[in-house]
Amino acid sequence: MNLNQVKAVISGGASGLGQATAARLVAGGGQVALLDVQDEAGRRAAAGLGTAASYHRCDVTAEAEVEAAVQSAAARMAGINVSVSCAGVATPGKLLGRDGPLPVAAFQRVLAINTLGTFLLDRAAAGIMQHNAPGEDGERGLLVHTASVAAFEGQIGQVAYATSKAAVAGMVLPLARELARFGIRVVCIAPGIFGTPMMAGLPQEAQDSLGKQVPFPPRLGRPEEYAELVAAIVTNRMLNGETIRIDGAIRMAPR
Ligand SMILES: NC(=O)c1ccc[n+]([C@@H]2O[C@H](COP(=O)([O-])OP(=O)(O)OC[C@H]3O[C@@H](n4cnc5c(N)ncnc54)[C@H](O)[C@@H]3O)[C@@H](O)[C@H]2O)c1
Repeated sequence: MNLNQVKAVISGGASGLGQATAARLVAGGGQVALLDVQDEAGRRAAAGLGTAASYHRCDVTAEAEVEAAVQSAAARMAGINVSVSCAGVATPGKLLGRDGPLPVAAFQRVLAINTLGTFLLDRAAAGIMQHNAPGEDGERGLLVHTASVAAFEGQIGQVAYATSKAAVAGMVLPLARELARFGIRVVCIAPGIFGTPMMAGLPQEAQDSLGKQVPFPPRLGRPEEYAELVAAIVTNRMLNGETIRIDGAIRMAPR
């Protein structure tokens, strides 16, 4: 579909990759609804994008909140044809940590936000998209997941995160196959290391060292580069059922 036809819900839209995606889609003439739990940042991000953007509070782990946010986003934009799941956490933890085995609740929380949250947004958004009028080739919508290179090369301390992201990638082919009859595509992006608030938590030295591990270009990815890939996926209908790495050829070491 053309960027100026986009009506997108973006989870995690108040920050980092989600916020950059919102800005790119609005720059292309589309409308966006930012879903997040950071109210102040979310409202500020939406206001900064003008009338084409709105903020809707929603914890992606809560089915009713996701349904309500997606419904209110659809009402505001007169429909939804793109959903981008960017809400996520990367809380580390070893199976056998210094303070004992990884608490079950810690493992479950990462899976709830990253994996269940993606499923709940897909579920709510696709439920609306299936009724869209078909566009070219019968296209009705697009679901974008955000995995991570940790889905394939999880490091020590990433058992929960890598599991959650492998699942997000694993959902893509069965969903693309199932939703083909509605003309809804499903594509996953697996970023390497990007300079977002998620990364800003690390000391500058650690960020620089991570950047140098990227073969080319030897730096952290920019959120705008992720957003540009979302825009390319939106406009290219042959992209479907696949996980695309955007990582400067990095392959993560064990630690
Ligand atoms: N930055 C990286 O290097 C990198 C690499 C690979 C994958 N990713 C993935 O990309 C996605 C975006 O990450 P980012 O770097 O922009 O991080 P970020 O921390 O800047 O943004 C994540 C957003 O998700 C929101 N969020 C967290 N829990 C939520 C919940 N329960 N409900 C609704 N919103 C919630 C946060 O409030 C935040 O605004 C994440 O899924 C992350 O795992 C990031």
